[in-house]
Amino acid sequence: MKPVINHPATRSVQIGVGRDDHTGAISFPIYPSATYRHPGVGQSTGYDYTRSGNPTRAVLEEAFAELEGGARGLVFSSGMAALTTLLLHFSSGDHLIASEDLYGGTYRLLEKIFAKFGITTTYVDTTTATAVEAAIVPRTKALLVETPGNPLLGISDIRTLAAICRARSLLFLVDNTFLTPVLQRPLELGADVVVHSATKYLGGHSDLCAGVLVAKDAALGEQLYFLQNSTGGILPPQDCWLLMRSLKTLPLRMKRHSDSALLVARWLQLQPRVKDVYYPGLPEHPGHDLCRTQADGFGGMLSFRVESPQVAEQVLERMQLISFAESLGGVETLITLPALQTHGDIPAAMRQRLGICNSLLRLSIGLEEPADLIADLQQALN
Ligand SMILES: Cc1ncc(COP(=O)(O)O)c(C=O)c1O
Repeated sequence: MKPVINHPATRSVQIGVGRDDHTGAISFPIYPSATYRHPGVGQSTGYDYTRSGNPTRAVLEEAFAELEGGARGLVFSSGMAALTTLLLHFSSGDHLIASEDLYGGTYRLLEKIFAKFGITTTYVDTTTATAVEAAIVPRTKALLVETPGNPLLGISDIRTLAAICRARSLLFLVDNTFLTPVLQRPLELGADVVVHSATKYLGGHSDLCAGVLVAKDAALGEQLYFLQNSTGGILPPQDCWLLMRSLKTLPLRMKRHSDSALLVARWLQLQPRVKDVYYPGLPEHPGHDLCRTQADGFGGMLSFRVESPQVAEQVLERMQLISFAESLGGVETLITLPALQTHGDIPAAMRQRLGICNSLLRLSIGLEEPADLIADLQQALN
């Protein structure tokens, strides 16, 4: 009998437990088999070929559906593989609207690849619902939002955007990488599909590359499964197991990431060489109140603007404990220069308009003692 689970933390810990009937294994086994013996002609154990279905992946995919509150979860070899599969749902001539404050790789995928196949995208400030409405044209099929935005952490109103999408028959797609289902569940607020780079918080240890899609509705989930199976960007069973293990501590990690990020953000606000701090957990952040209505925390990502590009360079060169490295969401704190790294593919004019300049630094706050992080920032800045 399936146990009654009311809390996300319990759900995370219990992933895979009691699911292997043959052995009772607490840690769900890795099934590396590429293919499966048929019991008879026209018969199947439920598994025929690993691209189409794998027992380890199936347990993980079900877990994601439950964590996000959707009908179907699918896991991929990277966040970009998940996004690519999602975008293959659209056809030539379709128009999309996307957040302008979004991961540079998503912009590159849309502009350098899907645009070639006649799928065009308009980028707007999705923190303003009227900007989204103004961008809708008759061939618009979907809205893709990152909230909090990347790297400026702007907050888009998921409920309002969901209502607009519903009224205009658009699919509403939310990249939930920054907050994870522990802190924000967009499907429960009206989104149709959630996408993740599981390389980040879901994996959480900077040792895994993976992506996730969760569809609210079973029919859309089936269409996305058709695309996953047809194009093949699946996550191998060994990595499915590693991701499953990581998810068990996700609620604990997200709490610590969020608590520490707030302490670091408050400290940064007091530094004379820091001009602006962008963290939705700060009451002065323009999206703070909205974020409280749609999320259970503010996450571990923050950005700050220093007084000049020279100071930013100095900080990056002097960091000792905090690593100057791309990516985010791991147990170790990382610092990046978005203009040159994660957002390097966004045209310079667009970056300038958005304020993604060479003085803007982005921190992914890890699980170290916040006082040690602050000491490292202190010696690098001052
Ligand atoms: C918000 C967001 N979405 C998607 C991606 C792409 O994921 P991956 O690097 O796992 O392919 C990233 C990567 O940085 C990201 O930050």
